Amino acid sequence: MKKLTQADFQERRDILAGEMGLRSIAIIATSPVAMRNNDADYKFRADSSFFYLTGFAEPEAVAVIETFDTEEEGYCYSLFCRERNREMEIWNGYRAGVDGAIEDYEADEAFAIDTLDEEIIGKLLNKDKAFYRIGHDSDFDIRVAKWVKQAEENQRGGFNTPARLIQLNRIIDEMRLHKSADEIELMQIASDISAEAHTRAMQTVKPNMMEYALEAELNYVFGKNGCVPSYNSIVGGGKNACILHYVENDQVLKDGDLVLIDAACEYQLYASDITRTFPVNGKFNAEQKALYNIVLDSQIAAIDAVRIGNSYKEPHNVAVKILVQGLLDLGIMQGDLEQIIASEHYRQFYMHGTGHWLGMDVHDVGSYKQNGRWRNYEEGMVVTIEPGLYIAPDDSTVDEKWRGIGIRIEDDVVVTKNGPLVLTKNVVKTVEDIEALMAL
Ligand code: GLY
Ligand code: MN
Ligand code: MN
Repeated sequence: MKKLTQADFQERRDILAGEMGLRSIAIIATSPVAMRNNDADYKFRADSSFFYLTGFAEPEAVAVIETFDTEEEGYCYSLFCRERNREMEIWNGYRAGVDGAIEDYEADEAFAIDTLDEEIIGKLLNKDKAFYRIGHDSDFDIRVAKWVKQAEENQRGGFNTPARLIQLNRIIDEMRLHKSADEIELMQIASDISAEAHTRAMQTVKPNMMEYALEAELNYVFGKNGCVPSYNSIVGGGKNACILHYVENDQVLKDGDLVLIDAACEYQLYASDITRTFPVNGKFNAEQKALYNIVLDSQIAAIDAVRIGNSYKEPHNVAVKILVQGLLDLGIMQGDLEQIIASEHYRQFYMHGTGHWLGMDVHDVGSYKQNGRWRNYEEGMVVTIEPGLYIAPDDSTVDEKWRGIGIRIEDDVVVTKNGPLVLTKNVVKTVEDIEALMAL
């Protein structure tokens, strides 16, 4: 089983400490436990950036990284976590505790999470800069502000306290945006499992099946591989495919309709994100096929534009051109290609962007612009390419035969020296391949 090692997490902390500079402190908390209803909570999932630096997946944990007056002093990594407690562990499961934080997670110091308010004050003294994720969690914002204020009360004792509070995301997000070979390997595993799930969905769908029953086929593949969905699965039959964030998945899949599935899993906290659209009865009709092939052509061309040095927006521009030309050719739109693009009238049928960064979060961190301009692709970035066309069921500007068809095709693409690397290629996407698979 592929897993990152403590050496990987340590390397990330080394980089962060270097970027922070001397006399600095970074404070980062994992996610709070979210309640589902009354006293039943959602299954805990660690915060991505916290896990990225620590590899620590338990709830109620805060990591602190401190640098000092000289580079020779290196940095100190402290982990605040739940103490071991026999009673609580019998009820709620194993805890690493402070000893485990040092032995298994290589913290230099570890403390019980309950002592954070006390211990952090001393750590803020004689620091010039404090990095934390400003605005990420308002409760934590308030705590940090209180700590800084409390630390300032020590100034009379001759201590300095941080004069600058700095957005920690700026450093971590940029690190996370560029994936290492190991991270890409984890994303490849997530993509392979997700592709298997989509393949199974194509093989098992039948007219009159419920959308949630098809979702269960995906969940079976995720679950048997030890994975969970990386976002809420969308399984939309017929016109439900035109609702971009449709997650009810509670309608009947009808003979003659397409079904759009946007679903994928995460493996070791690394996400995949796949969409496929296919006929419930295994055969595209003429209208479905015509629209599908426009989306597919646009997607293939957009993937080809994911190249080092190209603007982040290049795949979108490439996709839009092909989609609009296709709509003109079918008579769904009328007018001039350039004018439709300039006026964005195509948004009637294509209203979302062509992709987003992908990584530990499905909509991953990392800036899209630098100095006011779309940034260019660099090696190790991972982006989704997901054009679509959605003809609203009540769109009276369009011939009835097109209405209620929604199509999206989404793959995950790594920027490499050798051009685009498609992680999600293991699930078919041409009309011929889909029909052949479904006929088996
Ligand atoms: N699955 C979410 C997205 O495609 O952006
Ligand atoms: Mn996506
Ligand atoms: Mn998606």
